[in-house]
Amino acid sequence: MRYFKFFFAAMILFFGTVSGGCDILPFDSSSSETGERVVAICFPNTTPSWQRNGDSLQKLLEEENFKVNIQFAGNIDEQKKQVAEVLETHPNCIVIGAIDSDAFAETLEKAKEYQIPVIAFDRIIKGTDAVSYYASFDNDAIGEGMGLYIEAALDLKNGKGPYNIELFAGGPTDNNAHIFFKQTMAILEPYMKTGQLVVRSGQKTFDEVAVADWNAENARPRIREIMTKYYADQPLQVVLSPNDNIAGVLLDEIKKAGKPAPLISGLDGDPEAFERIKAGQQTFTIGKDPDVLTAKCVRMIKAVVEGTQPDINDVTTYDNGVIIVPAYLCTPQIIDKTNVK
Ligand code: BGC
Repeated sequence: MRYFKFFFAAMILFFGTVSGGCDILPFDSSSSETGERVVAICFPNTTPSWQRNGDSLQKLLEEENFKVNIQFAGNIDEQKKQVAEVLETHPNCIVIGAIDSDAFAETLEKAKEYQIPVIAFDRIIKGTDAVSYYASFDNDAIGEGMGLYIEAALDLKNGKGPYNIELFAGGPTDNNAHIFFKQTMAILEPYMKTGQLVVRSGQKTFDEVAVADWNAENARPRIREIMTKYYADQPLQVVLSPNDNIAGVLLDEIKKAGKPAPLISGLDGDPEAFERIKAGQQTFTIGKDPDVLTAKCVRMIKAVVEGTQPDINDVTTYDNGVIIVPAYLCTPQIIDKTNVK
């Protein structure tokens, strides 16, 4: 069975080099009227990390003589409009960082009709076979890494505690947010059962703790209320923050409540987070180096446009409901006061 699985994976890898996850053939590089090879990029503008990823991707693509049309959107309607409009310009490839992982099936029918290859960047796109490849960090490892760091830092395995903890998760429309939270909770939940971790607010489910659209300002009222209601005369020792941007707001409110910085997580490796780590405010972040991810994404773009070999290291995890999208999952890096630069 193992052997069969390997054979199956090898077949997908082989065909993946030509057509990715769907029946799109490599574009003739001279297919656009001007002979230019154009890559459209549609990203959210929800966190500074998207800007960094966009800049890095644009730079690498321009070095490879691609023309880049990059756009950022603040909400899903705006992003769907941007994607629909840019498809009408017939780019050679479109790279999407989806604001809503479930919202693109219909819009991408046009990509199929026009034979424009689609690459999902950082976030998987569900419900369509229009997606050729998925370039991301290992989302399961990110969630697990957050849980393992907290477990080790508090010495929970040796029965230490109780510690008061509050939980925050990313935006509900982003598939990654669900993966991160699920993996972290798989590590932390047993300690809530033993009473070593205590959530005084009682808010533990994804729906209760999610921060709409990953917009850090949406986390502010909830942490403010939690501090007043549950921590006026209690210490808050641990906070699970789903990314750096949100950690900034949480720390701000905790400080305003007159409390010291707790053990707090982050994600992305924002420069502001590095400064907070150096200042002893934020405990750690999980770094997602944009240059690492964008280099893999460029390999995928070249594969669909020029028929070259992409880097793929996962052909089983990202079942988007219609196809299993061949992926390259980069390795994230934990950064804390011991290795921050
Ligand atoms: C990404 C995170 C990012 C968040 C908010 C997630 O999908 O994986 O790195 O912080 O979106 O933009």
